[in-house]
Amino acid sequence: MYRTNTCGELRLADKGKKVTLAGWVQKSRKLGGMTFIDLRDRYGVTQLVVEADAPAALVETATSLGREFVIQVTGEVVERESKNAKMPTGEIEIRLAGITILNKSVTPPFTIEEESDGGEDLRAKYRYLDLRRPPLQRALALRHRLAQEIRTYLDGEGFMEIETPYLIKSTPEGARDFVVPSRMNPGQFYALPQSPQTFKQLLMVAGYDRYFQIVRCFRDEDLRADRQPEFTQIDCEMSFVEQDDVLGMFEGMMRSMFKNALGVDIPNPLPRMSWYDAMDNYGSDKPDVRFGMTIHEITAQAHGHGFSVFDSCPYVGAIAVPGAAEYTRKQLDELTEWVKRPQVGAKGLVYVKVNPDGTYKSSVDKFFAEADLAAIAAACEAAPGDLLLVLCGEKRKTQTMLGVLRIYMGGRLGLRDPKVFAPLWIVDFPLLEWSEEDQRFYAMHHPFTAPKPEHEAWFYSDKKEDLERVCANAYDFVLNGTELGGGSIRIHDAAMQSRMFEVLGISKEDAEYKFGFIINAFKFGAPPHGGLAFGFDRVCALFGGQETIRDYIAFPKNNMGRDVMIDSPSFIDQSQLDELQLDIRQPEA
Ligand code: AMO
Repeated sequence: MYRTNTCGELRLADKGKKVTLAGWVQKSRKLGGMTFIDLRDRYGVTQLVVEADAPAALVETATSLGREFVIQVTGEVVERESKNAKMPTGEIEIRLAGITILNKSVTPPFTIEEESDGGEDLRAKYRYLDLRRPPLQRALALRHRLAQEIRTYLDGEGFMEIETPYLIKSTPEGARDFVVPSRMNPGQFYALPQSPQTFKQLLMVAGYDRYFQIVRCFRDEDLRADRQPEFTQIDCEMSFVEQDDVLGMFEGMMRSMFKNALGVDIPNPLPRMSWYDAMDNYGSDKPDVRFGMTIHEITAQAHGHGFSVFDSCPYVGAIAVPGAAEYTRKQLDELTEWVKRPQVGAKGLVYVKVNPDGTYKSSVDKFFAEADLAAIAAACEAAPGDLLLVLCGEKRKTQTMLGVLRIYMGGRLGLRDPKVFAPLWIVDFPLLEWSEEDQRFYAMHHPFTAPKPEHEAWFYSDKKEDLERVCANAYDFVLNGTELGGGSIRIHDAAMQSRMFEVLGISKEDAEYKFGFIINAFKFGAPPHGGLAFGFDRVCALFGGQETIRDYIAFPKNNMGRDVMIDSPSFIDQSQLDELQLDIRQPEA
């Protein structure tokens, strides 16, 4: 038997027990003839001690141990003289009778403790060493716990877990596909699924009316803290349901995850907000509702005072930042620079200080009298001491910029506590989104989302204004400013699905080539259905109080989509290329 106990297990109640432990040497130190060793495994750290008067061979082995040596020790649980309240095992130590070195280790490139001295790149290269650290172990343990909760809940609700293929057909609509060349079909490619969307709908046609899968998805898109090229979805679909059935089922799942993994109660039912309200008030379709500071339209109050910047814009909006009227010139200049960064994209920033003494001070004093500024402050429901930050331009663009500014100011004011959870549903999304650049509609969610039945007439209209007003029974699950999941009630009628492709400017032939299989399937008795998918990595990160998903994935990629541990992507042999009948052009520098 390698071990009787783990390194996180023993307590004062075990005093006197003879035990065998195995694990990694986190560190060892000599103190007045005694040797102390911290032994680590994934359950915790236990202190070992070799007394000064122990047999010479034992003392020698103890002194020879390097960091990350794998050892097996035997000894007796004794009470510590100087206890460590921060460690669960801090009241005891093991007085050693024997040490066996199971494997040596070269000196690790960084410290493997709660905090590490290694930089991000170095830790990524030695991910298997970083994974020995408690924060990463906690992250993966949380991920495991949540996966179990999901399976228990969905199984209890009669869902079947069914796998769908990874080698599928390229249908670029949405993100870019990763493609895989086929040796047996030269010149042809599979695509890796961006999601199992069409397969889960085909499972509904096949009668598996409650499906789920914790499944890997692949998207070749620009990476961010909450985006990986391969990520995991909790993918779900149901037949014979309406929007309320889907929302009820999956907020139930989230409720049980919050309760059982975090001990947190979330509201029942969850709040719902329309996409239009989210955009108007928060400038985002994934509003962080942990704090107020909502957007107010002040176009009426801003126009007509001779300030041409406002007068020439169709929309003027503001947020009231509590307690920021005391900002200095320098701070205001910095904020102005901040909103001008390309990531925000504003041309400039106007401020109005609502001073605690009832006076106003603004960067546009020249054009606005006290009473005009008071009217603006009133429209923003500002309180004395608030700082109004004003942007203007095209309506949705300006709201989006104000939304970004709002999040930034919320962070600066400490209003975004990761331990506070404010989940909600965003509902009533527009079905379509017009792209000025491409002069065509895109599906706001995806091309399989159905128009709301009451908007169907507009959906069949040829007028752009009509198509723009069509809403969908589409919904997103939003938590603390992050989109955790999204879904919709689907089209289940072949003719309507064809109409959708037509609206999206996809030719009949192209639709037939790319999506013929699903249009065809819908001719064989497709039931009404709908579903959603959660981003599992994001769920884990937010439950763990982080915004970056990388720590919740055992082997993630870096910002350039590289796995620096295995050094991938990499070139392949000429023989492999030959087999695939592929020629590589010299990559551009
Ligand atoms: P959607 O594209 O909204 O919907 O994806 C669902 C959820 O997946 C997560 N997500 C990501 N997580 C990490 N890295 C990425 N690159 C990434 N991309 C998306 C998000 C998102 O909310 N088939 C539909 C769902 C449906 O209609 O049922 C779909 O894939 O948390």
